[in-house]
Amino acid sequence: MKKIALGVTSSVSIYKACEVLRGFQKKGFDVQVIMTPNAAQLISPRLFSALSGKKTAVDLFGDDDSDRIAHISLAEEISLLVIAPATANIIAKLASGVADDFLSTLYLAVRCPVLVAPAMNEAMYLHPQTQANILRLQTAGVELVLPEMGYLACKEEGWGRLVTPEKIIEHGLALLEKSESLKRRTVLVTAGPTREPLDPVRFLSNRSSGKMGYALAGEALRRGARVILVSGPTSLYPPPGAELRPVETAAAMAREVKKNLSRADVLIMAAAVADFRPADRSEQKVKKEEAPPALKLVPTEDILASLARPGGRSKKVIVGFAAETRDVIANASRKLREKKLDLIVANDVSREGIGFDSDFNQVVIIDKKGAVVESPIVSKREISRLVMDRVEVLLGRKK
Ligand code: PMT
Repeated sequence: MKKIALGVTSSVSIYKACEVLRGFQKKGFDVQVIMTPNAAQLISPRLFSALSGKKTAVDLFGDDDSDRIAHISLAEEISLLVIAPATANIIAKLASGVADDFLSTLYLAVRCPVLVAPAMNEAMYLHPQTQANILRLQTAGVELVLPEMGYLACKEEGWGRLVTPEKIIEHGLALLEKSESLKRRTVLVTAGPTREPLDPVRFLSNRSSGKMGYALAGEALRRGARVILVSGPTSLYPPPGAELRPVETAAAMAREVKKNLSRADVLIMAAAVADFRPADRSEQKVKKEEAPPALKLVPTEDILASLARPGGRSKKVIVGFAAETRDVIANASRKLREKKLDLIVANDVSREGIGFDSDFNQVVIIDKKGAVVESPIVSKREISRLVMDRVEVLLGRKK
């Protein structure tokens, strides 16, 4: 029997949490309820204990079994954390990593998918701070079932009403199903720029932040895959659970990709690999007065093209990215053919607000048959969902 945790916070719609609990039980789940101390002021935790058949957790230090750290062991047992209803306060805490009660501490400890269903007064919901917190949670990989317009506890019509328990359960089940869709698969993702040194202090590089590749790694993890993340230098934290292989140069990235490719079912090259490196690397810092008037460059190895050789790919799904500034579809289609890819994801890196270093992107996904799918401008997390959906279809065909 799968176990899920239901976090309940202090919204007037708290009574709907009983139906959420019952709904998951009817689907065969074992449900552990966690209430915030404020929620416990609205309804007695005993009600949820009676419904769930287990003691409702409220106090971080309430468990007298001192050998177990309750929130850590619960985090390891559950397949899904649902927070419904979620107040503006808990959303703000989760978004900023505050962990001062059982529920907010559990959130930081879980590796399973998290579903949050906000409920609050319209002014609070539409407040820019709440909206910014919601966006932050979405960027961190949390799934939200956003509230509806309707009659609110403050006796006004407006946005902020908790969605129906059925909708929450439906979302939770879909999330659980997705969280296993890449189980027993290994996804190798490259991310970030490479640095090609001139001397011990200077290098040639590019504007890649790693955000696109890290978002893809996070999405693959959420679908249950083992993820190996070969990353050039970035200022990002790897998504929890990813096996990070930090590299600096294109040559090091090529070595690491080849070393790990045999165990991967999918390779996604989102890294902006340098096409050229300085022909010479000085062991000492080059003095200003000794600097050459021109730099001699030599090409780096094209990692994807080198894998086109027999034996390099077999049943694997190979996805490339194309950073273009013009003729996006034509140039990307050429790369797809020349590098013998299953899929290419092209982005126009000359456009403001997308591509390099942005949280957003707009892409064109092209497959071997020439089918073209164009996305709107959405978060890199949304793009990674689109890409992984296509990857799953291709994996199914290669069975
Ligand atoms: O990191 P972010 O700031 O989030 O930005 C995301 C991104 C713009 C870097 C990303 O979306 C992207 O476009 N990545 C690919 C960048 C790139 O190198 O494109 P390209 O068209 O030059 O290369 C085509 C493909 O060949 C890429 O998959 C690249 O990883 C691969 N390549 C390139 C050069 C090389 N020597 N070896 C390679 O394998």
